[in-house]
Amino acid sequence: MSSAKTTASANTEFPNRVFSGVQPSGAITLGNYLGAIRNFVRLQDEMECIYCVVDLHAITVWQDPAELANQTREITAAYLASGIDPKRSIIFNQSMVSAHAELGWLFSCVARMGWMNRMTQFKDKAGKNREKVALGLFAYPALMAADILAYKATHVPVGDDQKQHLELTRDIAAKFNYDFCGEDQPGYFPITEPIIQGSATRVMSLRDGSKKMSKSDPSDMSRINLTDDADAIALKIRKAKTDPEVLPGGEALSEDGQGLSDTLRSERPEAANLLSIYAAMSDQSLAQVIEAKQGHSFADFKKDLTEVVVERFSPISAEMQRLMDDKAEVDAVLRDGAERAAAIAEPILRGAYDRVGLLKP
Ligand code: TYM
Repeated sequence: MSSAKTTASANTEFPNRVFSGVQPSGAITLGNYLGAIRNFVRLQDEMECIYCVVDLHAITVWQDPAELANQTREITAAYLASGIDPKRSIIFNQSMVSAHAELGWLFSCVARMGWMNRMTQFKDKAGKNREKVALGLFAYPALMAADILAYKATHVPVGDDQKQHLELTRDIAAKFNYDFCGEDQPGYFPITEPIIQGSATRVMSLRDGSKKMSKSDPSDMSRINLTDDADAIALKIRKAKTDPEVLPGGEALSEDGQGLSDTLRSERPEAANLLSIYAAMSDQSLAQVIEAKQGHSFADFKKDLTEVVVERFSPISAEMQRLMDDKAEVDAVLRDGAERAAAIAEPILRGAYDRVGLLKP
């Protein structure tokens, strides 16, 4: 786990800057909210922040062209409704700033096949279909590194599943610096720090505690969407998979008392998941939740969980709905954000071209 306050020493020469993104590949979930967006909101008080809707990433798997633009607006609406302030932070969609694709190509020439071959998310997404998936799905992490480094971002808030991609981003930055800056310190690109924070950095499916909650899961019952109404949330939580026991006591905590024990996570993954969601959504520590809820039945606990989720999401989904009815407002935010983003990224891209020896007279 990393904190925004601990900046890598290699980065002291780079001003603190946050970059992160969400793919417009489906409805935004409780996992996206707790793993990422909630931290995006908080970080605005600490650093300059750039938040992107990564539409070029979304098309690495099939997206219905008639739906994609709306999904992009929906993620933008979710950013705004959750509390990202477009005056303080930059909000835009990736395809509007060509520096992402251009730097992505440079990084495709820096990253090694061996590194890319190790990416577990590619293996998961491609499955047995490796020969038939898009080349872009394989190259995806090089584009992700470009997103971040086009702004020389020093900090990237994400959920736990993006950790490996951020390690690759660090490797790409270090190799670029080594290849094109020689001994010059600190090099051209910062070595980015992940920010993986909160008690729910990996929210699991409501139907299967061993699978990540995902917007691309075919079962809508596996996830809570930011746009779900109170009835849908109640139904999904009521139907969420559990086990026959009651809620655990202090033995369920890890040794340092901060997290959940590995035993609970492996033997009762659904209980671990619901407890983590409850702690994160009610802004309590896991220790507080376990103390208050030990011995309770899942039936009772699920009612309390529904209450905190509905309370948090109702105003967000109402505001999202308002914004989705006012596309002009959303589009204006994206246009303004893209202009401000391009103004930062263009000179950084030019500097990279220059170091590589690409002529831009
Ligand atoms: P994406 O769109 O899958 O998810 C967006 C963010 O939500 C987090 N997340 C979760 N966190 C906790 N539990 C879950 N079940 C869960 N599901 C998703 C993700 O970790 C992520 O932070 N590759 C990225 C998008 C991206 C990006 C970037 C992120 C492209 N370029 C540059 C940061 C910086 C992705 O697919 O996220």
